[in-house]
Amino acid sequence: ATTLGASAAERGRYFGVAIAGGRLSDTQYTTIANREFNMVTAENEMKLDATEPNQNQFSFSSGDRIVNWAISNGKQVRGHTLAWHSQQPGWMQNMSGTALRNAMLNHVTRVATYYRGKIHSWDVVNEAFADGSSGARRDSNLQRTGNDWIEAAFRAARAADPGAKLCYNDYNTDNWSHAKTQAVYRMVQDFKQRGVPIDCVGFQAHFNSGNPVPNNYHTTLQNFADLGVDVQITELDIEGSGSSQAEQYRGIVQACLAVTRCNGITVWGVRDSDSWRASGTPLLFNGSGQKKAAYDAVLAAL
Ligand code: XIL
Repeated sequence: ATTLGASAAERGRYFGVAIAGGRLSDTQYTTIANREFNMVTAENEMKLDATEPNQNQFSFSSGDRIVNWAISNGKQVRGHTLAWHSQQPGWMQNMSGTALRNAMLNHVTRVATYYRGKIHSWDVVNEAFADGSSGARRDSNLQRTGNDWIEAAFRAARAADPGAKLCYNDYNTDNWSHAKTQAVYRMVQDFKQRGVPIDCVGFQAHFNSGNPVPNNYHTTLQNFADLGVDVQITELDIEGSGSSQAEQYRGIVQACLAVTRCNGITVWGVRDSDSWRASGTPLLFNGSGQKKAAYDAVLAAL
């Protein structure tokens, strides 16, 4: 096939993109997004601050704009994200203890219920583990409500939308030998053993020269898949240019295709100029909307 989405579909996978609602009026942007991708993640519009700006006052218009664009163009949607230490509304940042736990669970329930039936996979919990060698949970207001906050969020999400796949999503979990990777692995293993509802693990995959694509990536993805979950590359971008960048993108696609349960890849933006990375050129299309060498490598690898 001649597009990323159609080629991935031939391999039983999806190829997705993060969409920014503010760019949906840019026809070059929507033309590329509509042509190449068959899965959509809202870059910011379904996060906690966007969907519950005041406690118990929900706002779905920005998220709906992206979900409706996706569905009307025949695409599926990854929900991102129900519980996270970052991009919380101000009222939540100032909460703690039982009140925060209940507010978080109410948020999970209300948002997942609102979007029930429209979401392929939810990033139920995002970035809950610490970087570095500790293998510990990240300190956050949510973590301080008790170590079981993650499983509580997953149970609430399952009750609200039994049809959505429920994912744990994080970064710096790509290298199998890193403590953070091992810690997430042990959590997923524990959840599966105790029947906590988890279906998938998302690997953000934001790479740069200081955080390169590990050569054991396939091992990491396979080991997680062997726990009985799907694995997905959820926010892929790779700093660089030319053939070096293209080879790294190729390696990611090959690692995913080598794992039966790696069922999709999402890039975190359309053109380099759409990237959250202020400088750099980490995506598959240049600022003029032209296909880069990285695009050609990905398409050829699919
Ligand atoms: C980023 C967005 O791309 C930016 O527009 C926003 O300012 C900050 O968040 N990990 C995640 C994503 O899970 O939600 C983040 O998205 C990038 C890192």
